[in-house]
Amino acid sequence: MKQFLAVIGFSLLTIAGFAGFSNYGIPRIEPAPPPVQEKIDLSAMTMDQFISLGERVLNGKGTCKLCHNELGRAPLLEQIIPNTEKRLADAKYKGEAHDLEGYILESMVNPSAYVVAGFGKSGSNDTVSPMPDVSGGSIGLTEPELLAVIAYLQDSGGAEVTVEIPTDAGDAAAEEVTAEEREPLEDPLEIAAEFGCGACHIIGEDEGDIGPDLTKIGATRDRDYLRRAILYPNAEIAEGFEADIMPDDLGDTMFAVEVERLAEYLASLK
Ligand code: HEC
Ligand code: HEC
Repeated sequence: MKQFLAVIGFSLLTIAGFAGFSNYGIPRIEPAPPPVQEKIDLSAMTMDQFISLGERVLNGKGTCKLCHNELGRAPLLEQIIPNTEKRLADAKYKGEAHDLEGYILESMVNPSAYVVAGFGKSGSNDTVSPMPDVSGGSIGLTEPELLAVIAYLQDSGGAEVTVEIPTDAGDAAAEEVTAEEREPLEDPLEIAAEFGCGACHIIGEDEGDIGPDLTKIGATRDRDYLRRAILYPNAEIAEGFEADIMPDDLGDTMFAVEVERLAEYLASLK
């Protein structure tokens, strides 16, 4: 009897231990300041407001900072003014731009028009850019948003702002991402689009190639591994790839249920 009680006692302790761990030991995933699309009124905007829209697009919806950061995945956009001068003067330049505005726009919508040496897709000998066309795919910047980014890069670099605020907002109305309540997304591909996975991975319609192809990832990785790969990308590094490139703060911005849906979806891809 004594032994029986000891066994029961031990089991209860173990269960309590696990329950405690799952409550306190596993980090909580906070439902972050979630982006919501909001129409903005261009006709009532000053140039200063347009420039600050550009800054928000660059840091948010545009996902530019996923690649254009100190890690050296892409040239620093803070250097774009001196760099543009070099690109346009380069004998290898075959694009159609003649000035800063034109070059930034071309870089965003047709990134392979000129590929900065050393930054091309692996194996392409710097002929194909790994940067997606940011006016299409899951990033989908509108024309006013592209122009606002140009205005911001010109202004912050100390150049004259040459773009004009578009007036015929009509179907090209800009959408702004603001921090407001949102509901967790249901569709895994929408979740992937929301968090920019396609900028680096082949997933859905997107063809990023900075990280591993995810189209058959479920054949070799299970759901637990995939959940961990999303939350703690540096815990295990996929063979042939580098650490510190995939954002490691997704757990702060995704709903826990979104992480689950994405992990489940990825696990089903075989
Ligand atoms: C998936 C990674 C990635 C994303 C996302 C990305 N870029 Fe790039 N970008 C690159 C790489 C790599 C290069 C260098 C290769 C090339 O010349 O295309 C580049 C080149 C550029 C250039 C030319 C730089 C130069 O020095 O000549 C500009 C301008 C630029 N990007 C702007 C942007 C803006 C603005 C955004 C967001 C709206 C953005 N990029 C999003 C990877 C990215
Ligand atoms: C800025 C580029 C970038 C973004 C954005 C990104 N990843 Fe990654 N991802 C990588 C790189 C590079 C690796 C390989 C290194 C590693 O394992 O951390 C990777 C690894 C992974 C792996 C592990 C693959 C394997 O075979 O082990 C999964 C799963 C994954 N990413 C899913 C996602 C999902 C889902 C998103 C969006 C929520 C996302 N990634 C966003 C760059 C990115």
